[in-house]
Amino acid sequence: MVTVLEHPLVQRDITILRDKLTNTQEFRAAMRRIGRVLACEAAKHIEVRKVTVETPLEMTEGYKLANDVVLLPVLRAGNGLVEPFTDVIPDAKVGYIGLRRNEETLQTEEYYYNVPELHTASLVIILDPMLATGGSICTTLDKMFHSSATRKCVVVSVIAAPEGIQRIVANHPNVPVVTASLDRCLNDVGYILPGLGDAGDRYHGTM
Ligand code: PRP
Ligand code: URA
Repeated sequence: MVTVLEHPLVQRDITILRDKLTNTQEFRAAMRRIGRVLACEAAKHIEVRKVTVETPLEMTEGYKLANDVVLLPVLRAGNGLVEPFTDVIPDAKVGYIGLRRNEETLQTEEYYYNVPELHTASLVIILDPMLATGGSICTTLDKMFHSSATRKCVVVSVIAAPEGIQRIVANHPNVPVVTASLDRCLNDVGYILPGLGDAGDRYHGTM
């Protein structure tokens, strides 16, 4: 299932991210605003359980999160979504996976992995602003499903290419994807068109 946000403020902020004249400070701020809306949408996959709460007037029913929620940003660019997601889901745990795309082969290379213990019912929300070939996300999903107990992952991106979506659907058909924009295609070096360029470099000011 793929959900594309349709929200005027998100469309305005995506335009700020795309603009090559946007400076690092404005880029980070727009990423943060989009991230909060993405977090609200991704959080629809969280399960809650009923609890009882006492208001100043009477007892009533309320809700608590039923299971662990673990945010898993893909370094580096995924770093830009951690703050907006913890704003919206303050009790989420955070793990990190560091992947870099070999720009010649477009294959994914892992250089860091530090993730809290996961249980069958843990919900892992994978954060990566750019879903291009889908190599980074599929590497992460393979690792989650083969080397951890979790059975529930959600993928969050800011900009997705159809090629990346198709790869996830082909390899992990039950994993929901939430994105702020579905772009046209990849160019011949694996960049998303129209895209926004290199998200990691633009977010970290390392162009
Ligand atoms: C970028 C981006 C994604 C990946 C997407 O990372 O942040 O992780 O490429 O491409 P894919 O879908 O084809 O795998 P990059 O390797 O540029 O590293 P960075 O975030 O450290 O800049
Ligand atoms: N990674 C990026 O940062 N941008 C793209 O367009 C593709 C992969």
